[in-house]
Amino acid sequence: MPDQSFKKASTLPPYIFGEINSLKQKARHAGEDIIDFGMGNPDRETPKPIVEKLIETVQNPATHRYSQSIGLPKLRLAMSDWYLRKYNVSLDHENEIVTCMGSKEGIAHLCMATLSEGDNVLVQSPTYPVHTYGVVIAGATVEPVTLIDDLESFLDQIKEKISRKKGKPKMLIINFPSNPTTITCNKAFFEELVNICKKNDIWIIHDLAYADIAFDGYKAPSILEIEGAKDIAVEFYTLSKSYNMPGWRVGFCSGNKHLVAALTKIKSYLDYGTFTPIQVAAIKALNECDDEVSKICNLYKERRDELCKGLNRIGWNIESPNATMFLWAKIPEKFQKIGSLEFSKLLISEAKVAVSPGSGFGMDGDGYVRFSLIENEYRIRQAIRGIKKVL
Ligand SMILES: Cc1ncc(COP(=O)(O)O)c(C=O)c1O
Repeated sequence: MPDQSFKKASTLPPYIFGEINSLKQKARHAGEDIIDFGMGNPDRETPKPIVEKLIETVQNPATHRYSQSIGLPKLRLAMSDWYLRKYNVSLDHENEIVTCMGSKEGIAHLCMATLSEGDNVLVQSPTYPVHTYGVVIAGATVEPVTLIDDLESFLDQIKEKISRKKGKPKMLIINFPSNPTTITCNKAFFEELVNICKKNDIWIIHDLAYADIAFDGYKAPSILEIEGAKDIAVEFYTLSKSYNMPGWRVGFCSGNKHLVAALTKIKSYLDYGTFTPIQVAAIKALNECDDEVSKICNLYKERRDELCKGLNRIGWNIESPNATMFLWAKIPEKFQKIGSLEFSKLLISEAKVAVSPGSGFGMDGDGYVRFSLIENEYRIRQAIRGIKKVL
């Protein structure tokens, strides 16, 4: 038998959604109707004009060949136009933008391209798993920086970690609006962060997956809006959430040309890019479908309102988030001691409701569970009745 000690694979814990999914599947096989707030997997269809563009393009056999790993020039141009339109940020599509097969892929490969053993990386915690495990897979060391709701303390922790004599961090990975905590920030916060990191020669990777899912007049800033940010930062954007395109696998890394070049280079060894018809349909999305984005955002807002209202009515007090497709809910006091995994199991078995345990996003999240807003309002009301029985 060949050696089975696969060091990298075995140091990774089971993927969070894998564990939740198998619990859910078991209950469903037993004939139960589980209301699913587990994964942040948009449930609605991709807007028609985008699907139609894909169908039209795929009829052309020339599009069946290998595509371009860096992304079609017109797609990168569409992304730079998007930045100009939405944020007044200018980007050179030749050197400052690379297309990814989803931002998850891009973040993991950027880590692989830029980090190695001995590098320390500050990572917001709790957070979306690839922010942490991209670093782990690259062989570098993660230093979690706790952020539940206090941005000041987050900055203080970063300053404290930077001021140490040994093990100065090389990179900081952040995500605003944040999954899972739903915390948002303003431009002044980004300004301070860019200042700190510039002074200390630290790269910033910002994940802007929820750029367009913002409510009540809040506008999620881009870190690239900050003067000089491009000297040290890149930002990831994805079509998965804004355009209901999670299965299509299109995202971007934009900003600092050295980081973009590193990612482009490693990707040129690993893939031939997203299927050309998907890239062409993505151009359509970015250039012509702003109204579809507004509709999608509005749907999440309605679900957020329904779920918040329902949970508050049954005594589970939740603050209404101003962005993302999630609710981040502190576990009610009497269940705090069992922790988020056991509490999530209880919700599946007793309330027939699946959520993600906060611990799946790092131990800082253990006092919480995350609801994804991927069920309709009727199902949300059904879930509230189930949860009421448990509380
Ligand atoms: C913060 C964050 N980043 C990235 C992703 C993955 O996005 P993509 O589909 O572009 O890989 C998600 C998905 O839930 C996410 O929440």
